[in-house]
Amino acid sequence: MAMTQDELKRRVAQAALAHVLPSLGAGRIVGVGTGSTTNYFIDALASVKERFDAAVSSSDASAERLAAHGIEVLDLNDVDAVAVYVDGADEVEPGGALIKGGGGAHTREKIVAAASEVFVCIVDDSKMVNTLGAFGVPVEVVPMARRSAARRLQSLGGDVRERGGFVTDNGNAVLDVHGLSIAEPHAIEARFNNVAGVVENGIFAVNRPDLVLVGTSDGVREFTPSDGPRP
Ligand code: 5RP
Repeated sequence: MAMTQDELKRRVAQAALAHVLPSLGAGRIVGVGTGSTTNYFIDALASVKERFDAAVSSSDASAERLAAHGIEVLDLNDVDAVAVYVDGADEVEPGGALIKGGGGAHTREKIVAAASEVFVCIVDDSKMVNTLGAFGVPVEVVPMARRSAARRLQSLGGDVRERGGFVTDNGNAVLDVHGLSIAEPHAIEARFNNVAGVVENGIFAVNRPDLVLVGTSDGVREFTPSDGPRP
C-alpha cells in the first residue's frame, strides 16, 4: 500500500539509526541537520540517547528539539570531531549531489556536514530527480548585499526571488534562484559562492553525502554517491 510522504520520512529516519549506531560510543558526537525528515530522525535518536555523548546541531530549531529530548547540544567549536551527520534534502540527483536550504539552514548544515566523518542523507523518494534545479537554489546573503547579489545571480542566468520576511539563524537573508537545470553542480556551487556577499549556497556537490537513504513504499533503498570521497 502506498505510504504518505510523512510516513516515508519517518521510515527513512528510523532506518538511519542502523547506520548511525555503529559509529556511536562514549565521546562520540552526532551531527544533526534541519527539517521535517530530520525531526523524525531526532525523535528516533532520542530512543538511543544513552549510546552517545552529545549532538552538534545545524539550526536553532533542531537544537531546541534535541534539548527537549534531553540530548546535550554542543557548539561545533567545542568538539574535536563529529562521528556522523544526518540530514534531509530538497533534491538528490543520481550522483548524490544535493539541493538543500528549503528551511534556510544550509550554511550551518554544510559546515557541520563538512566537519563530520560520515554524512548520511535521508529523503523520501519524492526528492529524487534526474537533474538538480527545479526546487530552486537557496543562497544565503549578507543583508547589505541583498540587491547587488540578486542582480549578479540574475546575470548568471537564474530567476532570483528574495525569500520575504525570512532571516537565517546567522542573521542573513535568503535569495532563491529558480529556472536552472544544473548539469554541473560543482561548477554552479563554486560560481554562486564567488558572488560578493554570498555566505553559502544550497548546492552540496563538493560536500555530497557518503550515503543516501531513500524511503519508498517498498522499503528503504540506499546508494553511495559516485563522485569519490569528500575532500
Ligand atoms: C533545511 C534543509 C532540509 O534538509 C530540506 O529543506 C528538507 O526538508 P524536509 O525534510 O522538511 O523535506 O535543507 O535547510
